[in-house]
Amino acid sequence: MSTLKGKDILHGNQFTKKEIEAILKVASQFEKELKQRGSIPLLKGRILATLFFEPSTRTRLSFETAMQRLGGGVIGMGSVEGSSVAKGETLIDTIQTVSQYADVIVLRHPRTGSAREAADATAIPIINAGDGAGQHPTQALLDIYTIRKELGTLKNLTISLVGDLKNGRTVHALVEVLSLFQAKLYFVSPESLRMPGEITSTLREKGIEVIETEDMLEAGRMSDLIYMTRIQKERFTDLSEYEKVKGSFVIDQTFLDQVKKKITILHPLPRVDEIHPEIDSYPGAAYFRQVKNGVYVRMALLAMIFGKR
Ligand code: NCD
Repeated sequence: MSTLKGKDILHGNQFTKKEIEAILKVASQFEKELKQRGSIPLLKGRILATLFFEPSTRTRLSFETAMQRLGGGVIGMGSVEGSSVAKGETLIDTIQTVSQYADVIVLRHPRTGSAREAADATAIPIINAGDGAGQHPTQALLDIYTIRKELGTLKNLTISLVGDLKNGRTVHALVEVLSLFQAKLYFVSPESLRMPGEITSTLREKGIEVIETEDMLEAGRMSDLIYMTRIQKERFTDLSEYEKVKGSFVIDQTFLDQVKKKITILHPLPRVDEIHPEIDSYPGAAYFRQVKNGVYVRMALLAMIFGKR
């Protein structure tokens, strides 16, 4: 039985290597099984609630897909504007209310730490689907699943993380998970958007080699994989600061030609202009396959949280 039974999923650093390996294994079994059967009804009668206080396409729809492919039901508020949050209801009261209906809550909220607050307010599992510029642990799991599938291994990899490393919650969560597999990491960002110092120093304390640079080409040439991210415009208080850094890093055919080797490209999406659509047909462009993997990994997580794997 999984050690994740009844647990909250809040932070990329909460998993042991064994747990990650177990999640990846279940996800890959589900991927095969789903192709044969279309659904795996392990969670009949269970209800998942989605509470999204920030925009989402993939995270919400893949959780809904995952729950329904497992035979469970899904409830959601639609928009925050259409709920009692618009009347001033607090997050904690909303969580306590939704806990009366659902068996698990998937929460996305603009405040860092909000998922932890929600988890403290209820006995049912909270899954953090992004807390401000904090964490996005389920994205990290689908990312690592995709990395292993695309590259065939998680051992001895060199990975470049590019873009808004300061505000990007996906990279904050992903490096925690990657640190369990001894990857060598290039952090490529404008000076003003560097990875928070405490994250970088914790990684180095764990013995992970981290190189910070603004040179995406040099980093790309050294890497097996580039994890591209969007500059998080909504996190800037001063839009003129955003204007200064937008478009800093772009992957296009010219860039790929200069890298001169086969490289895998991931992106949590949505993209703005940091990956040119001309490379969507490049075989190493794996970001839409990454989207699909989100369903298998979230199915695995849900099944394990309910003790069904
Ligand atoms: C990301 C997010 O919301 O943090 N998207 C996602 O969940 N796939 C990335 C982003 O918004 O840039």
